Amino acid sequence: MKTTRHGTLVAKISQWGEVRPTNPLKIQDVTFRDAHQSIFATRVRTQDLLVIAEKMDRVGFHSMEVWGGATFDTMHRFLGEDPWERIRVLKRHMGRTPFSMLLRGQNLVGYRNYPDDVAEAFVERCCINGIDIFRIFDALNDFRNFETVVRVVKEHGKHFQGAICYSLTERRMGGEVYTLEYYLDKAKELEDMGADSVCIKDMAGLISPYDAYVLVKALKERVRVPIHFHSHFTSGMADMSLLKAVEAGVDIVDTCLSAWAYRSSHPAVEPLVVTLMNTSRACGLDLGLLSECSELLEEVSRTYRHLLDDRTSIVDANVLLHQIPGGMISNLVNQLREMDALPRLKDVYGELPRVRKDLGQVPLVTPTSQIVGIQAVNNVLFDKPGERYSMITAQVKDLCYGLYGKTPAPIDEQVRTKALKDHPRGSTPIHVRPADILEPELEKAREETAGLARDIDDVLVYALYPTTGKRFLRWKYGLEEIPAEVTGEGTSMPSRQGPPPAQGKDAAEGKCTGGDSLRRDVQEGLGGPRRDENAGFPVGATRYRLYVDGQCVEFALEQVAHPAGGLVSRGGSQRPGLELREKRGLPADPVHVRHEVRNEEGVAREGTGGEAPGSPGDGDTPVTAPMPGMVVRYVLGEGERVAKGDVLVVLEAMKMENFITAPSDGVVKKICMREGQAAKKGDVLAVVSAP
Ligand code: CO
Repeated sequence: MKTTRHGTLVAKISQWGEVRPTNPLKIQDVTFRDAHQSIFATRVRTQDLLVIAEKMDRVGFHSMEVWGGATFDTMHRFLGEDPWERIRVLKRHMGRTPFSMLLRGQNLVGYRNYPDDVAEAFVERCCINGIDIFRIFDALNDFRNFETVVRVVKEHGKHFQGAICYSLTERRMGGEVYTLEYYLDKAKELEDMGADSVCIKDMAGLISPYDAYVLVKALKERVRVPIHFHSHFTSGMADMSLLKAVEAGVDIVDTCLSAWAYRSSHPAVEPLVVTLMNTSRACGLDLGLLSECSELLEEVSRTYRHLLDDRTSIVDANVLLHQIPGGMISNLVNQLREMDALPRLKDVYGELPRVRKDLGQVPLVTPTSQIVGIQAVNNVLFDKPGERYSMITAQVKDLCYGLYGKTPAPIDEQVRTKALKDHPRGSTPIHVRPADILEPELEKAREETAGLARDIDDVLVYALYPTTGKRFLRWKYGLEEIPAEVTGEGTSMPSRQGPPPAQGKDAAEGKCTGGDSLRRDVQEGLGGPRRDENAGFPVGATRYRLYVDGQCVEFALEQVAHPAGGLVSRGGSQRPGLELREKRGLPADPVHVRHEVRNEEGVAREGTGGEAPGSPGDGDTPVTAPMPGMVVRYVLGEGERVAKGDVLVVLEAMKMENFITAPSDGVVKKICMREGQAAKKGDVLAVVSAP
């Protein structure tokens, strides 16, 4: 038996000709950032990373990615932890291994381009707090968005890694936009900018093993600086792609500890270490130490299990089919579920590539994945026949204006025109580097946090995330109690962020509750007309149930095509659309119900979360949230005149801002919620009364 094993080993050696690692593969560990961002929604607390920090520092990784990406946002928003403090704490425990972070170019660690003064201060603070390697990417691969941050990285003598977002418009590399030449040109551009290394950033696990081989080989021939390969396991190909990249001569790869590997995370490091043993590319990491770390991490993981995707499959076949990243799909599913529209997921899958094409075939990565994904949801839910893009998010408008940079392919002219119709900066898109037109914001942030922020790090939390940043600073300095779901109620258990504690009564499904006074139970999701079992309701109409102050109202609506039979407004005008076919138990005036359903394309409900506006009087129109979200700001105040279509409120949903407009002319009678407050779908945001 010994001979057999020895014989096999010799065969392996003789086949490849050598055992000495003449070109050892360098490994960057991403356990502390991308791994838990991918599988635990970035919710892991610093204290749980410290369990293995010192051991990990002894492994001998080329570097460890410990910060950036979503960590900054989730830490201050959901964990009540100071993101800056994490770098400093980790650095105290890990003195040997260089720290790497993911920086979204001029988006820093947020979702929009920040002005240069904020970008400079932020990157400088990253350098000083302890980041050594900056992996910088731009969602559009528009490297003009690197200029400012790279300058600061270089000034501080740190490592600039230029990342190219890997994207496809067809199953394999090539086709429209994303050809081999595209990537080679991008890499060359980065090298010319002074990149110390170039990274292929395959955030959705789209790269196939043989494409990885071809791409890395070509890059190695064309580019002088080291090539770094980053691929997510999502589609099940990353292990194979990584190995082909190694064969093609890649210099550095990203992996993580097996405990947090696979699914939408990364290949595990342990099998790779063994795979490369006795080859020229052996990486020489201590397998025993790695397995100790993984075992400890398994313990920690128990408290985060509820965040794990509950599908049994660890391979997401959707990526192979639609190329839609898993993280994006779970976002879309959540969004649709909260809007009672889960059955429309298939439509969203179909709409997504169309929106992406309209918006210039952008790579799908933060923030463009959200921008494209949520716009696709909006189109599916709010567009009426013959009308597309009826609710365009602020971010899509900005993308069309050029505020994110240059898209890989041109934006559809019709969509652009529509999006820029009421853009605050004007209807002519810009072609310069986006930050060139941005006003400085740092001084303003200092002023607005005077008396609250104690240092520049505090100011930057606010500058990047004004609403949640300010709330965090109030938590940090004991000016506001930290909610239980943020503290984890005295345990290390991270709680998922939910809506703030209900101020009204329990609104359990199907109950006619008083606090949540108006509630609709969409019986068939947003599905088409159905045969109703109850006599009296017409066949072919969709039946709805409203709960108005504890009273149940049932009615049926039918789609009508002819103007004459259409919806009759109070003014008597007739239009095609939904027709009220039958009603039961309706209080006095059916016009209201009809009006609400027509205007909101969704749920009408009153008086939750904020102050109850009371029963709207005659001529009062409640303006409700068409989707769950956070009130960003009111554009108009109480008593101000408003015209139909004017923007009243900006509502942030899935990080995208939606403009909620006035349904009719009138006066803002009541503002019903506070800025920063969470609105459920159907919550009344404001009441507009007749002029
Ligand atoms: Co990643």
